[in-house]
Amino acid sequence: MTTGAATPRPIRQPVLDAVSLTKHFGGVTALDDVSLWALAGEVTALVGENGAGKSTLIKCLSGVYQPDAGEIRVDDKPMSFASPLDARLAGIETVYQELGLVEYFDVAMNIFLGREICRPWWQGSMLDRRAMRRRAREVLAGFGITNVNPSTEVRQLSGGQRQGVSIARAMAWGARTIIMDEPTAALGVRESERVMDVIRRLRDSNLCVLIVSHNIPQILAVADRIWVLRAGRLVAHRLASETNHADIVGHITGMTLPR
Ligand SMILES: Nc1ncnc2c1ncn2[C@@H]1O[C@H](COP(=O)(O)OP(=O)(O)OP(=O)(O)O)[C@@H](O)[C@H]1O
Ligand SMILES: [Mg+2]
Repeated sequence: MTTGAATPRPIRQPVLDAVSLTKHFGGVTALDDVSLWALAGEVTALVGENGAGKSTLIKCLSGVYQPDAGEIRVDDKPMSFASPLDARLAGIETVYQELGLVEYFDVAMNIFLGREICRPWWQGSMLDRRAMRRRAREVLAGFGITNVNPSTEVRQLSGGQRQGVSIARAMAWGARTIIMDEPTAALGVRESERVMDVIRRLRDSNLCVLIVSHNIPQILAVADRIWVLRAGRLVAHRLASETNHADIVGHITGMTLPR
């Protein structure tokens, strides 16, 4: 049985390191001395019951919350994220449970939100919609997302297509780490499979992918490494190739069977 503290460091330098993170909300300890890491070229999964602290951990890693104690390291350099922008500048992009797309903007505008491409000033500095659509098409195709038209308004897309747009938006700017909280929670079987394919592509392009999910079979199918949180504490670390459903569920619930 290996937990964060007892887990030997990998030979490769992790891209992302959480070191002894602690976070309280009033009297609730959402994270209690949690240490874990994630490597480039791997899908790392974070699992646990409702309220185990998964979203809190992800929000610390993406600059939404500041931990009360502990440290976040990127490529072994200590970081201090005062805001999500700081995390983004450090190469960490996050796709949230609530996706944050603008329903009445088209796909291309959503991908470029906050970083729009404009025409040069001598042409009036207006938004260059054609350039954004062309670039959006390239970015989507790069992740195998060919069923989304950049000029479609987001409100007309299916759940899986929206997920694809959020991932493309997160990745359009050369991030090295992508964090996804419940990427397939609201999706049907086929759409979930598409998102899983995109996750595999991200991994195959040597990105560091960190996902939170309650779907253990899906995690076992897509992840390389699994960390289990229970009541704010890290209780297990497993390679997906060396575990199974019962083992992971046992750690999630605290009802572990002897191995
Ligand atoms: N902003 C907040 N204010 C107060 N308490 C919070 C806040 N965010 C989380 N908590 C508490 O911290 C604990 C961990 O919550 P968190 O959202 O991280 O769990 P989770 O593992 O993501 O659960 P779920 O699987 O339901 O998404 C819970 O007890 C929750 O009630
Ligand atoms: Mg959550």
